Amino acid sequence: MAKIISGKTLAAQFKAQAAQQTAQLQEKGIGVRLAVIIVGENPASRTYVKGKTKDCAECGIASDVIELPESISENELLEKIEQLNRDDSVNGILVQLPLPRQIREQSVINAIAPEKDVDGFTDINTGKLVSGEECFLPCTPAGCIEMLKSTGVPIAGKDAVVIGRSNIVGKPAALLLCAEDATVTLCHSRTKDLKEKCAAADILIAAVGKAGFVTGDMVKEGAVVIDVGINRGADGKLCGDVVFDEAEAKASYITPVPGGVGLMTRAMLMMNTVRAARMQAEGRALREKGENH
Ligand code: GUN
Repeated sequence: MAKIISGKTLAAQFKAQAAQQTAQLQEKGIGVRLAVIIVGENPASRTYVKGKTKDCAECGIASDVIELPESISENELLEKIEQLNRDDSVNGILVQLPLPRQIREQSVINAIAPEKDVDGFTDINTGKLVSGEECFLPCTPAGCIEMLKSTGVPIAGKDAVVIGRSNIVGKPAALLLCAEDATVTLCHSRTKDLKEKCAAADILIAAVGKAGFVTGDMVKEGAVVIDVGINRGADGKLCGDVVFDEAEAKASYITPVPGGVGLMTRAMLMMNTVRAARMQAEGRALREKGENH
């Protein structure tokens, strides 16, 4: 029977850390602010944004939700981002995805100033992630790594399988695991012998978006299973990509849904936002010092 990696407990620890760091900055007169742009009425996006603003409030981080109509043009959205880039009181900018069809998602993401890209989705931050430079890590994969580390099971040298190759989760998760010295296999819809590959994994990260995708026969005895999926099951309840009971019987550690990775994603966003505020304040202080010389 696997031990449960509680996203709730771990996220609370990171949020407490973010709150403490925010308070320390505020004592120095430095505010921490996140701007969240949401376009249209996607109900899942609205739920996510609500969660993010709730976390901000809990951490003492100011948040602005900028609601824009589904019909907005790409140029109008780019203008809004430019305005937030120029606003020194805004430390982090997050554009909730997906965006409507008329808008090119990556163009919009790349308009975000890299130093305010708390989602870590800009090409600049992705490039830095690939080359192992310091950068804002995408929140979901960063949360997965923290969950893995919380088990105390070493990642180095392990065989890790990631299912799903999205830019938001799968690809960056594979890069982060590689940076932790795991041997990584990135699987997707065209992967052959998927079951066998998964069943050989010491670390299995499921980011497919399909309820019931990972069955017990795909889990190695003693594996650590991280379930990134957030789906509605046939019963209408929230569930992950993993058949929990089957995987739990074989894994050493497993994350639940709900109460798992989702909460960690939000906690990592708080950490990134405080870090952005601190780095921007340091940058301003250096510039001012330079100007006085
Ligand atoms: N949509 C689904 N996940 C995410 C996320 O982590 N960030 C943003 N901006 N949009 C998302």
